[in-house]
Amino acid sequence: MSPAPTTRTITLALTGASGMPFGLRLLDCLLGAGARVYLLYSPAAQVVARQECDLVLPAQPREAQRMLSERYAAREGQLFVFGREDWMAPLASGSNPADAMAICPCSMGTLGAIAAGLADNLIERAADVMLKERRPLVLVPRETPLSSIHLENMTRLAHAGAVILPPVPGFYTRPRSVDDIVDFVVARVLDHLSVAHELTRRWGEARVTPLPGVDA
Ligand SMILES: Cc1cc2nc3c(=O)[nH]c(=O)nc-3n(C[C@H](O)[C@H](O)[C@H](O)COP(=O)(O)O)c2cc1C
Repeated sequence: MSPAPTTRTITLALTGASGMPFGLRLLDCLLGAGARVYLLYSPAAQVVARQECDLVLPAQPREAQRMLSERYAAREGQLFVFGREDWMAPLASGSNPADAMAICPCSMGTLGAIAAGLADNLIERAADVMLKERRPLVLVPRETPLSSIHLENMTRLAHAGAVILPPVPGFYTRPRSVDDIVDFVVARVLDHLSVAHELTRRWGEARVTPLPGVDA
């Protein structure tokens, strides 16, 4: 049986790191799970989306909302796309934040800006709000190798309450395709956003018999 639809509101930001298939699959899964999604993306994310996924993300939020709602079969009122300087957006304030936020993929630039508390655009501000309001903030940083600056920024953010979730797959699920590897990472992000999914088998689940009436 599929999990019950979620009623959660999730902010998803796409930034200009490699790994756009993770971000787009996450968007797909959030909408498929019934979440309301506030979507943000940076100009560099537009370049990466085109390079890695042949996807042209429109500069105009309204146009992007229409295009992505159609692409992912979102229900009316399920997907909202906000511009990077839209300071009137709900997620700009601690009085109306989303339930949780993911930045996937997360560039070292955006990571550093959040670690420094810059809040200079709506992605950085929304992340800043999540930290100050003690709500889940999941960062999927991508770079290799990592400098001590990257590592220190990640440590700082982890101490402030963020979940640092690099897109590092496990191979114990025996992935057979790139899609399987993407789903492995997206599944862990969904877990940390408290959005139910059935993307991958969980470790050890075959050894535990279902409890009637509980694990139905
Ligand atoms: C195709 C492409 C791939 C990139 N990959 C990465 C990456 O994996 N990690 C990273 O930190 N920056 C990467 N960059 C550089 C960032 O996009 C750049 O630093 C940008 O200023 C980040 O801006 P943003 O954080 O506002 O998206 C990449 C850029 C391009 C065009």
